[in-house]
Amino acid sequence: MPQLKELLVEELQDLLHAETQLTAALPKMAQAASHPALKEAFEKHLLQTQNQVERLQKVFETLGEKAEPKPCRAMQGLIEEGKERIQETSGKEAPAADLALIAAAQKIEHYEIAAYGTARGLARQLGEFDCARLLSRTLGEEESADFLLTSISDPLVQQAALNERGANVNLDLPERSASYKKKSVRTEKVAG
Ligand SMILES: [Fe+2]
Ligand SMILES: [Fe+2]
Repeated sequence: MPQLKELLVEELQDLLHAETQLTAALPKMAQAASHPALKEAFEKHLLQTQNQVERLQKVFETLGEKAEPKPCRAMQGLIEEGKERIQETSGKEAPAADLALIAAAQKIEHYEIAAYGTARGLARQLGEFDCARLLSRTLGEEESADFLLTSISDPLVQQAALNERGANVNLDLPERSASYKKKSVRTEKVAG
């Protein structure tokens, strides 16, 4: 097999294993999420990921290659790290725990974005345009998933910062806590 095609097939085998692992990890992430929007985002991305596994099988078919996964240690590590974060944050406040989950999920999405971008580039170089189109579709889904996670994390970061400010005020500035409390209640109403 020519070197470039061999490289593409190897990248796809890595992705097949990565996506398959994710179909097992995403339900756990959805279960661990507190914010309904985050739970929904993980559930939606699980369906997309199952579809992406099927799409990858189509890509192998298009290339006339067998859909054989090759252990993706990078994704194993990212998922492992995500599991650790879920355990570490299980007793923490909801925004902090959700933010840790989002951080783990965005690292996973960025890995996928890099891998699909590389695979699509190789496919185009080889003139495998049907294969490149299929990879583009998945790449678009990964980018949207990453964008959605950012849009969920932004207000959660603000909420976590507000919570933290309230705690500092109560501990360090008792004489000013009444006015800070009023302020934080007003801001929370706006945020909520
Ligand atoms: Fe994916
Ligand atoms: Fe993804």
